[in-house]
Amino acid sequence: MWPDHRLLDLFKTEFPIVLAPMAGAMDADLTIAAAQGGALGSVPCAMIPLDKAREQFNIVRQRISAPLNMNFFCQKPIEADPARMAGWKQRLAPYYRELGLDPTAPVAAAKREPFNAAMCELVEELRPEVVSFHYGLPDQALVRRVKAAGCIVMSSATIVREAIWLEENGADVIIAQGLEAGGHRGMFLTEDIAGQIGTFALVPQVVDAVKVPVIAAGGIADGRGIAAAFALGAAGVQIGTAYLRCPESRLIAPARVALAQARDDSTVITNVMTGRPARGVANRVMREVGPISPDAPAFPHSATALGPLKAAAEKLGKVDFTNLWAGQAVRLGRDMPAAELTRALAGAALARLSRMAG
Ligand SMILES: Cc1cc2nc3c(=O)[nH]c(=O)nc-3n(C[C@H](O)[C@H](O)[C@H](O)COP(=O)(O)O)c2cc1C
Repeated sequence: MWPDHRLLDLFKTEFPIVLAPMAGAMDADLTIAAAQGGALGSVPCAMIPLDKAREQFNIVRQRISAPLNMNFFCQKPIEADPARMAGWKQRLAPYYRELGLDPTAPVAAAKREPFNAAMCELVEELRPEVVSFHYGLPDQALVRRVKAAGCIVMSSATIVREAIWLEENGADVIIAQGLEAGGHRGMFLTEDIAGQIGTFALVPQVVDAVKVPVIAAGGIADGRGIAAAFALGAAGVQIGTAYLRCPESRLIAPARVALAQARDDSTVITNVMTGRPARGVANRVMREVGPISPDAPAFPHSATALGPLKAAAEKLGKVDFTNLWAGQAVRLGRDMPAAELTRALAGAALARLSRMAG
Protein backbone atom coordinates (compact mmCIF):
# COMPACT_ATOMS: atom_id res chain seq x y z
CA MET A 1 0.00 0.00 0.00
CA TRP A 2 2.94 2.37 0.67
CA PRO A 3 4.50 3.57 -2.59
CA ASP A 4 8.02 2.89 -1.26
CA HIS A 5 8.91 -0.10 0.93
CA ARG A 6 12.61 0.49 1.45
CA LEU A 7 12.28 1.89 4.97
CA LEU A 8 9.76 -0.71 6.06
CA ASP A 9 12.23 -3.39 4.94
CA LEU A 10 15.16 -1.63 6.66
CA PHE A 11 13.49 -0.67 9.94
CA LYS A 12 10.93 -3.48 10.12
CA THR A 13 8.32 -1.08 11.47
CA GLU A 14 4.65 -1.18 10.60
CA PHE A 15 4.70 2.33 9.10
CA PRO A 16 7.42 4.42 7.37
CA ILE A 17 7.02 7.06 10.08
CA VAL A 18 9.80 8.07 12.49
CA LEU A 19 8.94 9.77 15.76
CA ALA A 20 11.51 12.59 15.72
CA PRO A 21 13.94 12.46 18.63
CA MET A 22 13.14 15.56 20.67
CA ALA A 23 15.72 16.15 23.40
CA GLY A 24 14.25 17.96 26.37
CA ALA A 25 10.63 17.52 25.23
CA MET A 26 10.10 13.78 25.66
CA ASP A 27 11.17 10.61 27.40
CA ALA A 28 10.54 6.87 27.12
CA ASP A 29 6.76 7.27 27.42
CA LEU A 30 6.42 9.01 24.04
CA THR A 31 8.88 6.59 22.41
CA ILE A 32 6.87 3.61 23.67
CA ALA A 33 3.52 5.06 22.63
CA ALA A 34 4.62 6.02 19.10
CA ALA A 35 6.30 2.63 18.61
CA GLN A 36 3.16 0.87 19.84
CA GLY A 37 1.29 2.79 17.15
CA GLY A 38 3.66 1.46 14.47
CA ALA A 39 6.27 4.23 14.12
CA LEU A 40 10.02 3.96 14.63
CA GLY A 41 10.47 5.16 18.21
CA SER A 42 13.42 7.43 18.93
CA VAL A 43 15.37 7.87 22.15
CA PRO A 44 16.96 11.35 22.21
CA CYS A 45 20.30 11.17 24.02
CA ALA A 46 21.78 14.64 23.35
CA MET A 47 20.82 16.24 26.64
CA ILE A 48 21.05 13.37 29.11
CA PRO A 49 24.03 11.64 30.74
CA LEU A 50 25.04 8.14 29.60
CA ASP A 51 23.45 6.28 32.50
CA LYS A 52 20.16 8.07 31.91
CA ALA A 53 20.32 7.22 28.18
CA ARG A 54 20.87 3.56 29.09
CA GLU A 55 17.97 3.71 31.54
CA GLN A 56 15.59 5.33 29.02
CA PHE A 57 16.52 2.83 26.31
CA ASN A 58 16.04 -0.13 28.65
CA ILE A 59 12.66 1.17 29.84
CA VAL A 60 11.50 1.16 26.22
CA ARG A 61 13.04 -2.24 25.43
CA GLN A 62 11.35 -3.80 28.45
CA ARG A 63 7.95 -2.50 27.42
CA ILE A 64 7.97 -3.22 23.67
CA SER A 65 9.87 -5.38 21.21
CA ALA A 66 9.80 -2.81 18.39
CA PRO A 67 12.89 -1.46 16.58
CA LEU A 68 14.41 1.68 18.11
CA ASN A 69 16.49 4.69 17.13
CA MET A 70 19.03 6.30 19.47
CA ASN A 71 19.82 9.93 18.60
CA PHE A 72 22.96 11.94 19.32
CA PHE A 73 24.40 15.33 18.45
CA CYS A 74 27.82 15.37 16.78
CA GLN A 75 28.72 19.06 16.45
CA LYS A 76 32.36 20.17 16.49
CA PRO A 77 32.69 21.47 20.05
CA ILE A 78 33.45 25.18 20.50
CA GLU A 79 34.93 26.41 23.80
CA ALA A 80 32.99 29.15 25.58
CA ASP A 81 34.59 32.55 24.91
CA PRO A 82 34.73 34.39 28.27
CA ALA A 83 34.32 37.86 26.69
CA ARG A 84 31.25 36.81 24.72
CA MET A 85 29.82 35.04 27.76
CA ALA A 86 30.25 38.22 29.84
CA GLY A 87 28.67 40.38 27.12
CA TRP A 88 25.73 37.99 26.88
CA LYS A 89 25.24 38.05 30.64
CA GLN A 90 25.22 41.81 30.47
CA ARG A 91 22.65 41.76 27.66
CA LEU A 92 20.42 39.57 29.84
CA ALA A 93 21.11 41.44 33.11
CA PRO A 94 17.85 43.48 33.01
CA TYR A 95 15.89 40.20 33.02
CA TYR A 96 17.94 38.95 35.97
CA ARG A 97 17.06 42.10 37.88
CA GLU A 98 13.40 41.89 36.92
CA LEU A 99 13.22 38.31 38.26
CA GLY A 100 15.17 39.20 41.42
CA LEU A 101 18.23 37.15 40.39
CA ASP A 102 21.89 38.01 40.94
CA PRO A 103 23.60 38.22 37.52
CA THR A 104 27.02 37.76 39.15
CA ALA A 105 26.12 34.43 40.82
CA PRO A 106 27.86 31.38 39.27
CA VAL A 107 25.75 29.44 36.77
CA ALA A 108 25.97 25.78 35.72
CA ALA A 109 27.31 25.51 32.16
CA ALA A 110 24.82 24.29 29.53
CA LYS A 111 26.01 20.94 28.15
CA ARG A 112 25.35 19.23 24.81
CA GLU A 113 28.10 16.61 24.56
CA PRO A 114 28.85 15.51 21.00
CA PHE A 115 28.96 11.76 20.26
CA ASN A 116 32.14 10.26 21.73
CA ALA A 117 33.80 6.91 22.47
CA ALA A 118 31.81 6.36 25.69
CA MET A 119 28.51 6.96 23.85
CA CYS A 120 29.70 4.61 21.14
CA GLU A 121 30.31 1.93 23.79
CA LEU A 122 26.74 2.42 24.97
CA VAL A 123 25.49 1.93 21.40
CA GLU A 124 27.63 -1.24 21.16
CA GLU A 125 26.15 -2.45 24.43
CA LEU A 126 22.49 -1.69 23.62
CA ARG A 127 22.55 -2.28 19.85
CA PRO A 128 19.59 -0.16 18.78
CA GLU A 129 18.39 -0.98 15.26
CA VAL A 130 19.01 2.63 14.18
CA VAL A 131 21.33 5.43 15.33
CA SER A 132 20.62 8.95 14.09
CA PHE A 133 22.85 12.00 14.32
CA HIS A 134 22.24 15.73 14.14
CA TYR A 135 24.94 18.14 12.76
CA GLY A 136 26.65 15.71 10.40
CA LEU A 137 28.37 12.51 11.47
CA PRO A 138 30.98 11.70 14.11
CA ASP A 139 34.55 10.67 13.17
CA GLN A 140 34.83 7.84 10.66
CA ALA A 141 36.19 5.43 13.28
CA LEU A 142 33.08 5.95 15.42
CA VAL A 143 30.74 5.63 12.40
CA ARG A 144 32.44 2.32 11.54
CA ARG A 145 31.94 1.06 15.10
CA VAL A 146 28.25 2.02 15.09
CA LYS A 147 27.78 0.16 11.81
CA ALA A 148 29.77 -2.83 13.06
CA ALA A 149 27.31 -2.99 15.97
CA GLY A 150 24.63 -3.63 13.33
CA CYS A 151 22.96 -0.21 13.51
CA ILE A 152 21.51 1.64 10.54
CA VAL A 153 23.03 5.15 10.47
CA MET A 154 20.90 8.21 9.70
CA SER A 155 21.59 11.95 9.76
CA SER A 156 19.89 15.17 8.72
CA ALA A 157 20.74 17.25 5.66
CA THR A 158 19.44 20.78 5.18
CA ILE A 159 21.00 21.34 1.74
CA VAL A 160 21.86 18.95 -1.11
CA ARG A 161 25.60 19.33 -0.46
CA GLU A 162 25.11 18.00 3.09
CA ALA A 163 23.09 15.05 1.78
CA ILE A 164 25.87 14.09 -0.66
CA TRP A 165 28.48 14.44 2.11
CA LEU A 166 26.43 12.24 4.44
CA GLU A 167 26.05 9.51 1.81
CA GLU A 168 29.77 9.62 1.03
CA ASN A 169 30.61 9.38 4.71
CA GLY A 170 28.46 6.40 5.58
CA ALA A 171 24.84 7.45 6.18
CA ASP A 172 22.46 4.61 5.24
CA VAL A 173 19.42 6.91 5.29
CA ILE A 174 19.23 10.70 4.92
CA ILE A 175 16.69 12.88 6.66
CA ALA A 176 15.99 15.91 4.45
CA GLN A 177 15.17 18.55 7.04
CA GLY A 178 13.21 21.41 5.51
CA LEU A 179 13.11 24.93 6.85
CA GLU A 180 9.66 24.32 8.33
CA ALA A 181 11.06 21.88 10.91
CA GLY A 182 10.84 22.48 14.63
CA GLY A 183 13.99 22.40 16.74
CA HIS A 184 17.59 22.86 15.68
CA ARG A 185 18.56 23.04 12.06
CA GLY A 186 20.83 20.06 11.40
CA MET A 187 23.04 22.28 9.19
CA PHE A 188 26.77 21.43 9.30
CA LEU A 189 28.33 22.49 5.97
CA THR A 190 26.65 25.87 5.87
CA GLU A 191 25.86 28.65 8.33
CA ASP A 192 23.65 30.56 5.90
CA ILE A 193 20.22 30.57 7.50
CA ALA A 194 18.76 32.75 4.73
CA GLY A 195 19.66 30.07 2.18
CA GLN A 196 17.90 27.23 4.01
CA ILE A 197 15.29 25.41 1.92
CA GLY A 198 11.66 24.41 2.46
CA THR A 199 10.75 20.71 2.60
CA PHE A 200 8.83 20.84 -0.71
CA ALA A 201 11.88 22.04 -2.64
CA LEU A 202 14.52 20.17 -0.64
CA VAL A 203 13.18 16.61 -0.70
CA PRO A 204 13.10 16.02 -4.50
CA GLN A 205 16.52 17.64 -4.93
CA VAL A 206 18.02 15.40 -2.23
CA VAL A 207 16.25 12.35 -3.71
CA ASP A 208 17.86 13.15 -7.08
CA ALA A 209 21.32 13.61 -5.54
CA VAL A 210 21.70 10.41 -3.45
CA LYS A 211 20.99 6.69 -3.81
CA VAL A 212 20.09 5.95 -0.18
CA PRO A 213 16.47 6.29 1.02
CA VAL A 214 15.42 9.81 2.00
CA ILE A 215 13.15 10.67 4.89
CA ALA A 216 11.28 13.97 4.67
CA ALA A 217 11.14 16.12 7.82
CA GLY A 218 9.73 19.55 8.53
CA GLY A 219 6.15 20.74 8.53
CA ILE A 220 4.63 17.27 8.11
CA ALA A 221 1.75 16.89 10.55
CA ASP A 222 -1.09 15.00 8.88
CA GLY A 223 -1.94 12.50 6.16
CA ARG A 224 -1.75 15.17 3.47
CA GLY A 225 1.82 16.04 4.40
CA ILE A 226 2.87 12.38 4.49
CA ALA A 227 1.28 11.69 1.10
CA ALA A 228 3.02 14.79 -0.30
CA ALA A 229 6.39 13.56 1.03
CA PHE A 230 5.95 10.28 -0.87
CA ALA A 231 4.88 12.17 -4.00
CA LEU A 232 8.17 14.10 -3.74
CA GLY A 233 10.15 10.87 -3.67
CA ALA A 234 10.68 10.39 0.06
CA ALA A 235 10.67 6.83 1.42
CA GLY A 236 9.31 7.94 4.80
CA VAL A 237 8.74 10.86 7.13
CA GLN A 238 10.15 12.05 10.44
CA ILE A 239 7.59 13.92 12.51
CA GLY A 240 8.29 15.93 15.65
CA THR A 241 5.98 18.87 16.30
CA ALA A 242 2.76 16.92 15.68
CA TYR A 243 3.65 14.64 18.62
CA LEU A 244 4.34 17.45 21.11
CA ARG A 245 0.74 17.81 22.23
CA CYS A 246 0.37 14.09 22.92
CA PRO A 247 -0.23 13.44 26.63
CA GLU A 248 2.99 11.32 26.67
CA SER A 249 5.29 14.27 25.76
CA ARG A 250 7.13 16.06 28.55
CA LEU A 251 6.14 19.65 27.85
CA ILE A 252 5.43 21.73 30.93
CA ALA A 253 1.84 23.00 31.16
CA PRO A 254 2.46 26.61 29.99
CA ALA A 255 4.50 25.35 27.01
CA ARG A 256 1.59 23.08 26.09
CA VAL A 257 -0.72 26.13 26.18
CA ALA A 258 1.71 28.17 24.03
CA LEU A 259 1.80 25.40 21.43
CA ALA A 260 -1.97 24.93 21.47
CA GLN A 261 -2.43 28.67 20.86
CA ALA A 262 0.28 28.94 18.20
CA ARG A 263 -0.78 29.83 14.67
CA ASP A 264 0.88 29.33 11.29
CA ASP A 265 3.08 32.42 11.73
CA SER A 266 3.95 31.97 15.41
CA THR A 267 7.31 30.23 14.94
CA VAL A 268 10.65 31.81 14.03
CA ILE A 269 14.23 30.66 13.65
CA THR A 270 16.36 31.93 16.49
CA ASN A 271 19.94 31.55 17.69
CA VAL A 272 19.21 33.21 21.02
CA MET A 273 18.31 30.12 23.05
CA THR A 274 21.40 27.97 22.37
CA GLY A 275 23.66 29.73 19.85
CA ARG A 276 22.59 27.50 16.95
CA PRO A 277 19.63 28.28 14.70
CA ALA A 278 16.47 26.48 15.78
CA ARG A 279 12.76 26.97 15.11
CA GLY A 280 10.31 27.53 17.92
CA VAL A 281 7.25 29.49 18.98
CA ALA A 282 8.48 33.04 19.57
CA ASN A 283 8.68 33.88 23.27
CA ARG A 284 9.69 37.07 25.02
CA VAL A 285 13.49 36.66 24.92
CA MET A 286 13.40 35.57 21.27
CA ARG A 287 11.35 38.66 20.39
CA GLU A 288 13.25 41.18 22.50
CA VAL A 289 16.84 39.94 22.06
CA GLY A 290 16.54 38.15 18.71
CA PRO A 291 15.26 36.23 17.01
CA ILE A 292 18.83 36.34 15.63
CA SER A 293 21.39 38.08 17.81
CA PRO A 294 25.05 38.61 16.91
CA ASP A 295 25.76 38.61 20.67
CA ALA A 296 24.60 35.03 21.29
CA PRO A 297 27.59 32.86 22.30
CA ALA A 298 28.33 29.71 20.27
CA PHE A 299 26.32 26.50 20.78
CA PRO A 300 25.41 25.54 23.44
CA HIS A 301 26.85 28.36 25.53
CA SER A 302 24.00 30.85 24.93
CA ALA A 303 21.82 28.56 27.04
CA THR A 304 24.08 28.92 30.09
CA ALA A 305 23.05 32.45 31.10
CA LEU A 306 19.43 31.70 30.17
CA GLY A 307 19.27 28.78 32.63
CA PRO A 308 18.46 30.75 35.81
CA LEU A 309 15.99 32.99 33.91
CA LYS A 310 14.18 29.95 32.51
CA ALA A 311 13.92 28.34 35.95
CA ALA A 312 12.72 31.50 37.69
CA ALA A 313 10.16 32.38 35.00
CA GLU A 314 8.82 28.83 34.85
CA LYS A 315 8.20 29.00 38.62
CA LEU A 316 5.88 31.90 37.81
CA GLY A 317 4.18 29.83 35.08
CA LYS A 318 5.89 31.75 32.26
CA VAL A 319 7.76 30.48 29.21
CA ASP A 320 9.55 33.78 28.48
CA PHE A 321 12.96 32.00 28.51
CA THR A 322 11.91 28.42 27.72
CA ASN A 323 12.74 26.66 24.43
CA LEU A 324 9.37 26.29 22.72
CA TRP A 325 10.78 24.30 19.81
CA ALA A 326 8.07 23.66 17.24
CA GLY A 327 7.72 23.72 13.46
CA GLN A 328 5.53 25.70 11.10
CA ALA A 329 2.78 23.07 11.15
CA VAL A 330 2.34 23.48 14.91
CA ARG A 331 -1.27 24.50 14.42
CA LEU A 332 -2.10 21.09 12.93
CA GLY A 333 -1.12 19.41 16.25
CA ARG A 334 -3.80 17.50 18.15
CA ASP A 335 -4.20 16.47 21.78
CA MET A 336 -4.24 12.75 21.13
CA PRO A 337 -2.36 9.75 22.57
CA ALA A 338 0.73 9.05 20.46
CA ALA A 339 -0.19 5.48 19.46
CA GLU A 340 -3.59 6.67 18.25
CA LEU A 341 -2.02 9.66 16.48
CA THR A 342 0.49 7.41 14.68
CA ARG A 343 -2.27 5.13 13.42
CA ALA A 344 -4.40 8.12 12.41
CA LEU A 345 -1.48 9.68 10.50
CA ALA A 346 -0.71 6.43 8.68
CA GLY A 347 -4.38 5.74 7.92
CA ALA A 348 -4.99 9.23 6.57
CA ALA A 349 -1.81 9.08 4.45
CA LEU A 350 -2.73 5.70 2.96
CA ALA A 351 -6.27 6.85 2.19
CA ARG A 352 -4.97 9.96 0.45
CA LEU A 353 -2.30 8.03 -1.46
CA SER A 354 -4.87 5.56 -2.76
CA ARG A 355 -7.20 8.39 -3.80
CA MET A 356 -4.28 10.00 -5.62
CA ALA A 357 -3.48 6.68 -7.35
CA GLY A 358 -7.12 6.27 -8.40
C1 LIG B 1 10.98 19.95 20.50
C2 LIG B 1 11.93 19.46 19.44
C3 LIG B 1 13.16 18.93 19.81
C4 LIG B 1 14.02 18.40 18.85
N1 LIG B 1 15.18 17.79 19.26
C5 LIG B 1 15.91 17.09 18.35
C6 LIG B 1 16.97 16.24 18.79
O1 LIG B 1 17.25 16.11 19.98
N2 LIG B 1 17.68 15.57 17.84
C7 LIG B 1 17.37 15.66 16.50
O2 LIG B 1 18.03 15.01 15.69
N3 LIG B 1 16.37 16.45 16.07
C8 LIG B 1 15.62 17.15 16.96
N4 LIG B 1 14.55 17.91 16.52
C9 LIG B 1 14.30 18.05 15.07
C10 LIG B 1 13.53 16.84 14.52
O3 LIG B 1 14.40 15.74 14.37
C11 LIG B 1 12.88 17.08 13.14
O4 LIG B 1 13.81 17.57 12.22
C12 LIG B 1 11.69 18.02 13.20
O5 LIG B 1 10.90 17.80 14.34
C13 LIG B 1 10.82 17.82 11.96
O6 LIG B 1 9.95 18.89 11.78
P1 LIG B 1 8.51 19.04 12.49
O7 LIG B 1 8.82 19.42 13.89
O8 LIG B 1 7.85 20.09 11.70
O9 LIG B 1 7.83 17.70 12.42
C14 LIG B 1 13.68 18.46 17.47
C15 LIG B 1 12.45 19.03 17.10
C16 LIG B 1 11.57 19.51 18.06
C17 LIG B 1 10.23 20.07 17.61
